[in-house]
Amino acid sequence: MANAGCNFQQKLLMANAGCNFQQKLPIFFTLSSMKNFAGSDILSTMDFSREDIDHIIKVSEQFLPIALKEKTSNLLENKLMAALFYEPSTRTRLSFESAMNRLGGRVLSVVGSEYSSLAKGETLWDTGKMVESYVDVIVMRHPQPGSPKEVAASAGVPVINAGDGGGEHPTQALLDMFTITREHQTIDGLTIALVGDLKYGRTVHSLSYLLAHYKVKLILVSPDKLKMPPEITDHLKKSGVAFEETESLEHALKNAQVLYDTRVQKERFADVNEYEKYKHYYVLTRELVEKYNPKLTIMHPLPRVGEIHPDVDDLPGAAYFRQAQNGVAVRMALLAMVLGKA
Ligand code: NCD
Repeated sequence: MANAGCNFQQKLLMANAGCNFQQKLPIFFTLSSMKNFAGSDILSTMDFSREDIDHIIKVSEQFLPIALKEKTSNLLENKLMAALFYEPSTRTRLSFESAMNRLGGRVLSVVGSEYSSLAKGETLWDTGKMVESYVDVIVMRHPQPGSPKEVAASAGVPVINAGDGGGEHPTQALLDMFTITREHQTIDGLTIALVGDLKYGRTVHSLSYLLAHYKVKLILVSPDKLKMPPEITDHLKKSGVAFEETESLEHALKNAQVLYDTRVQKERFADVNEYEKYKHYYVLTRELVEKYNPKLTIMHPLPRVGEIHPDVDDLPGAAYFRQAQNGVAVRMALLAMVLGKA
């Protein structure tokens, strides 16, 4: 639902036509930089202001007891979500489905493009146009960067990007921000290292755009061939974020309070030999953490495929399973917000 904020504003103006308040509405809207979430798409973290992010973190906090099964809710009763997953997923799809079901809503799923009409050559535009008539919200993952925007252009219901190839993963980045806040009570003032495949890792792309709103210092750790794309480092520069690029994991371990590790994205490499060269470029072990920074908070969007040794798991700072669990509360908040229920 592209430009949903605009439509909502227009609808309000129309509803208030003839009353004095009408003239004041545009001022009201320009005073707040917070997005109007009801009816809106979640496509890119570039669309969020700091106010939006802080608000989502607060709303997610409220959903936590339901996500943790301490409370029940029927907030999204009679609402239907389409989960269109044209790329592999475990956590993202299941946490969205869990969020929807635990709020009393229901889910229709398509998993794998081979089982959908995309395999017959249907366009993303047609897919959006058709699916909107079946559901109230669409959550989609697709290998092509920008594809959720194409679906959103025709769908009259909110579309949530659950990962578009090597592009973005906004809901993961929001749950990462929520996790950092829960682990550290604040984001401002932290030194955060992003480690691994910064070129193809969509989670670190989205997370960088969100962190650019805070007073953080970033250490970008990758092999030279897998550096953060220049459009993102340019954005960090423009936003005034202090960052450095290095190949040294040891430097990050010594200096960061939070280390966000990532998997080398095998599926994005044209040459499998190139992937083999980098797949175990960095391996985080308990010995390294204990030697350099025993208090380090360690995050990872998961799945991990060797870059974090299992002996790290029972360190107090190993936050990646808590991070995965936080995904349910954040996705509850996002679904409720775009459906106009939070
Ligand atoms: C990530 C993804 O799909 O981008 N996983 C996830 O959603 N939790 C990270 C990855 O696949 O490496």
